[in-house]
Amino acid sequence: MSDSLAALKAELEDFGKATDRATAARSGRMLNITRDTGELLSVLVRVTAARRILEIGTSNGYSTIWLAEAASAIDGRVTTVEFADSKVGLARANFARSGLAPFINLIHGDAGRFLQHAGQDAYDLVFLDSERPEYPGWWPRLRGVLRPGGLMVADNATSHAAEMAPFVALVNADPQFTTCLVPVGNGEYLAVKVAP
Ligand SMILES: C[S@@+](CC[C@H](N)C(=O)[O-])C[C@H]1O[C@@H](n2cnc3c(N)ncnc32)[C@H](O)[C@@H]1O
Repeated sequence: MSDSLAALKAELEDFGKATDRATAARSGRMLNITRDTGELLSVLVRVTAARRILEIGTSNGYSTIWLAEAASAIDGRVTTVEFADSKVGLARANFARSGLAPFINLIHGDAGRFLQHAGQDAYDLVFLDSERPEYPGWWPRLRGVLRPGGLMVADNATSHAAEMAPFVALVNADPQFTTCLVPVGNGEYLAVKVAP
Protein backbone atom coordinates (compact mmCIF):
# COMPACT_ATOMS: atom_id res chain seq x y z
CA MET A 1 0.00 0.00 0.00
CA SER A 2 1.35 3.47 -0.84
CA ASP A 3 1.93 5.90 2.02
CA SER A 4 -0.66 8.28 0.63
CA LEU A 5 -3.35 5.59 0.40
CA ALA A 6 -2.61 4.48 3.96
CA ALA A 7 -2.87 8.11 5.08
CA LEU A 8 -6.17 8.59 3.23
CA LYS A 9 -7.66 5.47 4.81
CA ALA A 10 -6.60 6.66 8.28
CA GLU A 11 -8.04 10.11 7.60
CA LEU A 12 -11.36 8.60 6.46
CA GLU A 13 -11.50 6.39 9.56
CA ASP A 14 -11.11 9.47 11.79
CA PHE A 15 -13.60 11.45 9.69
CA GLY A 16 -16.18 8.64 9.81
CA LYS A 17 -15.92 8.22 13.58
CA ALA A 18 -16.07 11.96 14.26
CA THR A 19 -18.97 12.52 11.86
CA ASP A 20 -21.00 9.62 13.19
CA ARG A 21 -20.46 10.76 16.81
CA ALA A 22 -21.62 14.28 15.97
CA THR A 23 -24.56 13.40 13.70
CA ALA A 24 -27.96 12.32 14.99
CA ALA A 25 -29.60 11.57 11.64
CA ARG A 26 -28.64 8.17 10.22
CA SER A 27 -28.71 9.61 6.69
CA GLY A 28 -25.92 12.03 7.64
CA ARG A 29 -23.60 9.41 9.10
CA MET A 30 -20.81 7.70 7.17
CA LEU A 31 -21.46 4.24 8.71
CA ASN A 32 -18.17 2.91 7.34
CA ILE A 33 -16.99 -0.66 7.68
CA THR A 34 -14.28 -1.33 10.23
CA ARG A 35 -10.61 -1.49 9.20
CA ASP A 36 -10.46 -5.26 9.79
CA THR A 37 -13.48 -5.68 7.50
CA GLY A 38 -11.55 -3.75 4.84
CA GLU A 39 -8.64 -6.12 5.32
CA LEU A 40 -10.96 -9.13 5.00
CA LEU A 41 -12.51 -7.73 1.79
CA SER A 42 -9.04 -7.13 0.39
CA VAL A 43 -8.07 -10.76 1.01
CA LEU A 44 -11.38 -12.09 -0.35
CA VAL A 45 -11.05 -10.13 -3.59
CA ARG A 46 -7.52 -11.41 -4.13
CA VAL A 47 -8.07 -15.04 -3.10
CA THR A 48 -11.20 -15.38 -5.25
CA ALA A 49 -9.66 -13.34 -8.11
CA ALA A 50 -12.85 -11.26 -8.14
CA ARG A 51 -12.35 -8.86 -11.03
CA ARG A 52 -16.00 -7.81 -11.38
CA ILE A 53 -17.11 -6.38 -8.05
CA LEU A 54 -20.42 -4.76 -7.13
CA GLU A 55 -20.85 -2.75 -3.93
CA ILE A 56 -24.30 -1.66 -2.76
CA GLY A 57 -23.94 1.31 -0.39
CA THR A 58 -20.94 3.54 -1.10
CA SER A 59 -21.33 6.26 1.54
CA ASN A 60 -18.16 8.38 1.26
CA GLY A 61 -16.23 5.54 -0.33
CA TYR A 62 -14.16 4.08 2.49
CA SER A 63 -15.06 0.44 1.78
CA THR A 64 -14.91 1.08 -1.97
CA ILE A 65 -11.29 2.18 -1.59
CA TRP A 66 -10.41 -1.15 0.08
CA LEU A 67 -12.20 -3.08 -2.68
CA ALA A 68 -10.71 -0.99 -5.48
CA GLU A 69 -7.19 -1.24 -4.11
CA ALA A 70 -7.44 -5.04 -4.19
CA ALA A 71 -9.20 -5.02 -7.57
CA SER A 72 -6.50 -2.80 -9.07
CA ALA A 73 -3.90 -5.47 -8.25
CA ILE A 74 -5.71 -8.10 -10.35
CA ASP A 75 -6.95 -5.89 -13.19
CA GLY A 76 -10.43 -5.75 -11.65
CA ARG A 77 -13.04 -3.01 -11.33
CA VAL A 78 -15.59 -2.00 -8.70
CA THR A 79 -19.07 -0.75 -9.50
CA THR A 80 -20.54 0.97 -6.44
CA VAL A 81 -24.09 2.28 -6.01
CA GLU A 82 -25.17 5.18 -3.79
CA PHE A 83 -28.34 7.27 -3.92
CA ALA A 84 -27.56 10.12 -1.50
CA ASP A 85 -26.30 13.23 -3.34
CA SER A 86 -24.03 14.39 -0.52
CA LYS A 87 -22.38 10.96 -0.16
CA VAL A 88 -21.80 10.69 -3.91
CA GLY A 89 -19.98 14.04 -3.80
CA LEU A 90 -17.76 12.93 -0.92
CA ALA A 91 -17.06 9.57 -2.53
CA ARG A 92 -16.13 11.11 -5.86
CA ALA A 93 -13.61 13.42 -4.17
CA ASN A 94 -12.14 10.56 -2.11
CA PHE A 95 -11.78 8.35 -5.19
CA ALA A 96 -9.88 11.12 -6.98
CA ARG A 97 -7.57 11.53 -3.99
CA SER A 98 -6.97 7.77 -3.72
CA GLY A 99 -5.68 7.46 -7.28
CA LEU A 100 -8.08 4.52 -7.68
CA ALA A 101 -10.79 6.34 -9.67
CA PRO A 102 -9.89 4.47 -12.91
CA PHE A 103 -10.89 1.25 -11.15
CA ILE A 104 -14.22 2.55 -9.83
CA ASN A 105 -17.56 3.06 -11.56
CA LEU A 106 -19.71 5.17 -9.20
CA ILE A 107 -23.42 4.86 -9.94
CA HIS A 108 -25.55 7.66 -8.50
CA GLY A 109 -28.92 6.01 -8.09
CA ASP A 110 -31.15 3.55 -6.31
CA ALA A 111 -29.67 0.09 -5.79
CA GLY A 112 -32.98 -1.72 -6.31
CA ARG A 113 -33.40 -0.05 -9.67
CA PHE A 114 -29.77 -0.76 -10.56
CA LEU A 115 -30.19 -4.44 -9.74
CA GLN A 116 -33.26 -4.68 -11.97
CA HIS A 117 -31.11 -3.82 -14.96
CA ALA A 118 -27.83 -5.53 -13.98
CA GLY A 119 -26.80 -8.48 -16.12
CA GLN A 120 -27.20 -12.14 -15.19
CA ASP A 121 -23.91 -13.59 -13.78
CA ALA A 122 -22.34 -10.13 -14.15
CA TYR A 123 -20.34 -10.06 -10.89
CA ASP A 124 -17.75 -12.23 -9.16
CA LEU A 125 -18.24 -10.58 -5.76
CA VAL A 126 -21.08 -8.49 -4.34
CA PHE A 127 -20.57 -6.47 -1.15
CA LEU A 128 -23.86 -5.54 0.48
CA ASP A 129 -23.80 -2.62 2.93
CA SER A 130 -27.03 -0.69 2.63
CA GLU A 131 -30.53 -0.68 4.17
CA ARG A 132 -30.93 -4.18 5.56
CA PRO A 133 -34.77 -4.40 5.35
CA GLU A 134 -34.40 -4.07 1.57
CA TYR A 135 -32.23 -7.16 1.19
CA PRO A 136 -34.94 -9.86 1.06
CA GLY A 137 -36.73 -7.97 -1.73
CA TRP A 138 -33.44 -7.61 -3.62
CA TRP A 139 -32.47 -11.27 -3.22
CA PRO A 140 -33.98 -12.59 -6.51
CA ARG A 141 -31.83 -10.12 -8.46
CA LEU A 142 -28.79 -10.33 -6.17
CA ARG A 143 -28.59 -14.09 -6.63
CA GLY A 144 -29.00 -13.61 -10.37
CA VAL A 145 -26.22 -11.06 -10.84
CA LEU A 146 -23.70 -13.28 -9.02
CA ARG A 147 -21.97 -15.74 -11.32
CA PRO A 148 -21.84 -19.42 -10.30
CA GLY A 149 -18.90 -19.61 -7.89
CA GLY A 150 -19.38 -15.93 -7.02
CA LEU A 151 -19.31 -14.61 -3.47
CA MET A 152 -21.71 -12.32 -1.65
CA VAL A 153 -20.52 -10.55 1.51
CA ALA A 154 -23.04 -8.70 3.68
CA ASP A 155 -21.96 -6.39 6.51
CA ASN A 156 -23.60 -6.02 9.96
CA ALA A 157 -24.52 -9.68 10.38
CA THR A 158 -23.71 -9.59 14.11
CA SER A 159 -24.14 -5.88 14.93
CA HIS A 160 -27.70 -5.96 13.50
CA ALA A 161 -28.46 -9.69 13.69
CA ALA A 162 -32.21 -9.25 14.23
CA GLU A 163 -32.58 -6.98 11.20
CA MET A 164 -30.50 -9.37 9.12
CA ALA A 165 -32.40 -12.48 10.25
CA PRO A 166 -35.05 -12.58 7.47
CA PHE A 167 -32.39 -12.16 4.80
CA VAL A 168 -30.06 -14.72 6.35
CA ALA A 169 -32.94 -17.21 6.60
CA LEU A 170 -33.79 -16.65 2.93
CA VAL A 171 -30.21 -17.17 1.71
CA ASN A 172 -29.55 -20.10 4.06
CA ALA A 173 -32.63 -21.82 2.60
CA ASP A 174 -31.45 -21.31 -0.99
CA PRO A 175 -30.01 -24.62 -2.24
CA GLN A 176 -27.70 -22.79 -4.64
CA PHE A 177 -25.79 -21.09 -1.80
CA THR A 178 -23.35 -22.20 0.88
CA THR A 179 -23.02 -19.71 3.72
CA CYS A 180 -21.07 -18.83 6.84
CA LEU A 181 -20.69 -16.05 9.38
CA VAL A 182 -17.26 -14.49 9.81
CA PRO A 183 -16.95 -12.67 13.17
CA VAL A 184 -14.83 -9.81 11.88
CA GLY A 185 -15.83 -6.19 12.41
CA ASN A 186 -19.62 -5.91 12.54
CA GLY A 187 -20.01 -9.50 11.38
CA GLU A 188 -19.66 -10.53 7.74
CA TYR A 189 -22.21 -12.94 6.28
CA LEU A 190 -20.70 -14.83 3.35
CA ALA A 191 -22.65 -16.75 0.73
CA VAL A 192 -21.04 -18.50 -2.22
CA LYS A 193 -23.11 -19.50 -5.22
CA VAL A 194 -22.47 -23.11 -6.11
CA ALA A 195 -22.58 -24.24 -9.72
CA PRO A 196 -26.15 -24.87 -10.97
C1 LIG B 1 -23.69 1.65 5.74
S1 LIG B 1 -23.57 2.94 4.56
C2 LIG B 1 -22.29 2.35 3.47
C3 LIG B 1 -20.91 2.44 4.07
C4 LIG B 1 -19.80 2.09 3.11
N1 LIG B 1 -20.00 0.78 2.52
C5 LIG B 1 -18.47 2.12 3.82
O1 LIG B 1 -18.20 1.16 4.58
O2 LIG B 1 -17.71 3.07 3.65
C6 LIG B 1 -25.01 2.65 3.58
C7 LIG B 1 -25.16 3.57 2.40
O3 LIG B 1 -26.17 3.04 1.55
C8 LIG B 1 -26.88 4.10 0.97
N2 LIG B 1 -28.18 3.57 0.53
C9 LIG B 1 -29.22 3.15 1.31
N3 LIG B 1 -30.22 2.68 0.56
C10 LIG B 1 -29.81 2.80 -0.74
C11 LIG B 1 -30.42 2.47 -1.99
N4 LIG B 1 -31.65 1.93 -2.06
N5 LIG B 1 -29.72 2.72 -3.11
C12 LIG B 1 -28.46 3.26 -3.06
N6 LIG B 1 -27.85 3.59 -1.91
C13 LIG B 1 -28.52 3.35 -0.76
C14 LIG B 1 -26.97 5.14 2.07
O4 LIG B 1 -27.20 6.44 1.56
C15 LIG B 1 -25.61 4.98 2.77
O5 LIG B 1 -24.67 5.91 2.28
